Amino acid sequence: MINIAVLGYGTIGSGVIEVLKTNCESIAKRAGDQIDVKYVLDLREFPGDPIMEKLVHDVNTILEDPEVKIICEVMGGVEPAFTFVKSALLKGKSVVTSNKELVAKHGAELINMAKEHNLNFLFEASVGGGIPIIRPLNQSLTADEIVEITGILNGTTNYILSKMCDEGLGFEAALAEAQKLGYAERNPAADVEGHDACRKIAILSSLAFGMQVDYEDIYTEGITKITDIDILYSKALGAKIKLFATSIRDNDRVYAMVAPAMIKSNHPLFSVNDVFNGIFVRGNVIGDVMFYGSGAGKLPTASAVVADIVDAAKHFGKNIWTIWSSKKLELTDVNQVKHRFFLRVKGSAQDVKDQVAKLFGEVEEVKAEGIQGEYAFISESISEQDVKEKINKLADVLSLIRVRF
Ligand code: HSE
Repeated sequence: MINIAVLGYGTIGSGVIEVLKTNCESIAKRAGDQIDVKYVLDLREFPGDPIMEKLVHDVNTILEDPEVKIICEVMGGVEPAFTFVKSALLKGKSVVTSNKELVAKHGAELINMAKEHNLNFLFEASVGGGIPIIRPLNQSLTADEIVEITGILNGTTNYILSKMCDEGLGFEAALAEAQKLGYAERNPAADVEGHDACRKIAILSSLAFGMQVDYEDIYTEGITKITDIDILYSKALGAKIKLFATSIRDNDRVYAMVAPAMIKSNHPLFSVNDVFNGIFVRGNVIGDVMFYGSGAGKLPTASAVVADIVDAAKHFGKNIWTIWSSKKLELTDVNQVKHRFFLRVKGSAQDVKDQVAKLFGEVEEVKAEGIQGEYAFISESISEQDVKEKINKLADVLSLIRVRF
């Protein structure tokens, strides 16, 4: 019997209990022994739920119990999760987590601690929900130098954009649905402002490049400024708007960014809709690889957490080596990065058109049925710095979206 403890009985925690119960036999075969949840930690009470038998309110009950070999941290947030995870590793327990805030901030340190104590700190569920992406980066794509990772890494925002585009739903209504389905963060600002995707691309970049990529250094823009009119224009272009998290290596420099992007059907992430996530990875020898699946939600995320529990059980006494040094990777200044930009400028089309021509030179005009009193266009490829300087000279810019076609 392998005793484990689950810290947090929220959406993911209850999902972990459910998955362990549903697939009890096959999981036992794969782990080499039966997995038993000895404790569940939560401050709340759950009257009528059989989990009450295992519920404890004091983490020390778990930390002091030598029978508990694996801790499954699914509380979310940096503290007290960080303190609990460190204490667990110091007590000789392996840890698995779905907590992207924790991994993005302290991943290097916790990996190192696990290594020093011949334990494991595993975090497959922290990126892409149920999609295997951490293990492939760590263990499968090891012959390659990774040159690009571009992902739709947030299920909530992809769900919102899909509903706005395909069903004409408003932003707030789509967000409310995503919350009801258990996709969104407790504070959904983390989803819609891009911070969740930012932490996830920081984790993937740190693994891909083996050094600490600080999420605070990544330029991040969410989807709150995307309107139904932007969506009308994107449809007129045969395009879709997606929240992209990108990390690209160019020679020895890496740039990373989270921002909405307009893409057309020739882009591999075009058909990634609803709560699905897609992650496109380019290696210098393998070429392009794609990962696709449910990016959020109770059972898909719990599936990845339980897979880590199985891996931890299979590797008692043996650390699974992960390269993520705490040395900081300095990112390229995003102002130097070039894109084509979709812009909408308020004013009579003729007046704005002349101004735009002077500032941007040749542009591609974009028209959408029924929209008046503004001028929309796509620029040539120019730097972020250049576009900022140019739009400062325009009176009223209604939107700016990076174009990936
Ligand atoms: N709120 C996150 C998302 C949950 O929507 O992707 C999964 O990390």
